Amino acid sequence: MNSADIAVLAGNGKSGRRVAAALRVAGHRTRVAGRKGPVRFDWHEPATWPELLDGADAVYVVAPGDDAGPVPSFVDAAVAAGVARLVMLSGRGFDHWDGRFGDTMVATEQAVRASGRGTVLRSSNFAQNFTEELWEPAVRTGRLALPGQRIADSLIDLGDVAAVAARVLTEPGHEDRVYELTGPESLTLESALAILAAATDRDLRYEPLTPEAYADELRTLGLGEADVAELVGLWAIMAEGHLDGVSDDVPRLLGRPARAFGDWAVEQAAVGAWGV
Ligand SMILES: NC(=O)c1ccc[n+]([C@@H]2O[C@H](COP(=O)([O-])OP(=O)(O)OC[C@H]3O[C@@H](n4cnc5c(N)ncnc54)[C@H](OP(=O)(O)O)[C@@H]3O)[C@@H](O)[C@H]2O)c1
Repeated sequence: MNSADIAVLAGNGKSGRRVAAALRVAGHRTRVAGRKGPVRFDWHEPATWPELLDGADAVYVVAPGDDAGPVPSFVDAAVAAGVARLVMLSGRGFDHWDGRFGDTMVATEQAVRASGRGTVLRSSNFAQNFTEELWEPAVRTGRLALPGQRIADSLIDLGDVAAVAARVLTEPGHEDRVYELTGPESLTLESALAILAAATDRDLRYEPLTPEAYADELRTLGLGEADVAELVGLWAIMAEGHLDGVSDDVPRLLGRPARAFGDWAVEQAAVGAWGV
């Protein structure tokens, strides 16, 4: 058995690998869990759960992407194993999703909160969506095309999400809380693109699409219908303004301001993101 004491699910994913690194830097032992590697964990293979949970103090939880069916049993197993804290990554606008987006996150939140040991981190969209996700090609091709004219969000640096997660995974007093994690300012995606244009010295153009045209572009990229419907739903929710505005949870929890998108963009351009 691994002697580490904080288990990080999706530990090789975008948030999980940063959470694990933040924990290690703060001197905590981690179990970096994934479907491959020394600490194997698969939502769909309950036989992989006991070794992960045995002796763990806390678990960082990323909802399964496909089916939240196993989550309540996993939470029960964690409680039975003596896990004191379950810290889950969720998304902002939760109360307005209404079946249009995030069904597995909703079910995972419910199970984690029902444990009485859960902390939910409802995060804004990550700045890293422009380096490690769907919007990365926009900075290379010069075109960001999304369904909506004025879509505002308070993009957050995943480093801040990881710092908050590392904190609440390792100290008591956050059980049964929901935190809203945002960057320090609300930006339209068009103004975020203008910041990236300045940071990279490139011509980047924002193009508003109809939801139908956007769905067609996603299909061309190879996304399946379920993912297309989720993303179209997400943008409808964002166009309604539910991710606009900022929260002070990050500065309150970290004792410092959340990182500005512009500062993140300058650093990314300087280290060669987008082939700058
Ligand atoms: N992108 C955003 O702006 C944003 C904002 C707020 C919230 N979120 C939420 O964040 C979550 C994604 O987090 P992330 O970006 O850190 O993850 P990610 O980079 O998308 O990685 C997902 C991880 O899930 C693991 N995984 C896949 N199938 C699995 C299975 N059957 N059992 C166990 N692990 C499995 C994979 O690990 P292995 O391959 O190693 O098994 C992978 O590392 C989603 O719920 C999303 O809705 C995203």
